[in-house]
Amino acid sequence: MLYSEKVMEHFNNPRNVGVIENADGMGEVGNPVCGDIMKITFKVDADEKLEDVKFQTLGCGAAIATSSIVTEMAKGMTLEEAAAITKQQVADELGGLPPAKMHCSVLATDGLKVAVDDYLTKARSRADIGRDQVCRPELRPHSDEDHAAEHEEACDI
Ligand code: FES
Repeated sequence: MLYSEKVMEHFNNPRNVGVIENADGMGEVGNPVCGDIMKITFKVDADEKLEDVKFQTLGCGAAIATSSIVTEMAKGMTLEEAAAITKQQVADELGGLPPAKMHCSVLATDGLKVAVDDYLTKARSRADIGRDQVCRPELRPHSDEDHAAEHEEACDI
């Protein structure tokens, strides 16, 4: 399996590794099939743009590289922009992923979506406003069943 130079570079030197203390948003996701897990935390600035993003991923090389690049992509984005990052955008940013590893990028994008949802849930608690106004369905990650289906392909790392 051939990885791009950029995938290998992010795998060997992952950016923004760690956990942000008192994070504004936190997402933890796991894959029930391969067992890989990812935790992502972020802080927002006064304009509700992501100013710091960190991750911890226990998983394959593609999962680590995609987590790393997602933290770089998300910095400076609004909540909506960050939650809308797709696995294809992540793969493109890395110079491509082997087809059998495309599903690994879902871990990073899902983790970010869960973290954004966590932020919005906390914001709702703080503001005590209606759930429909802050918990937007379009920001929710896809279900475990969807993820499991994508992991039917063989994973050899
Ligand atoms: S995320 Fe499961 S094998 Fe890569």
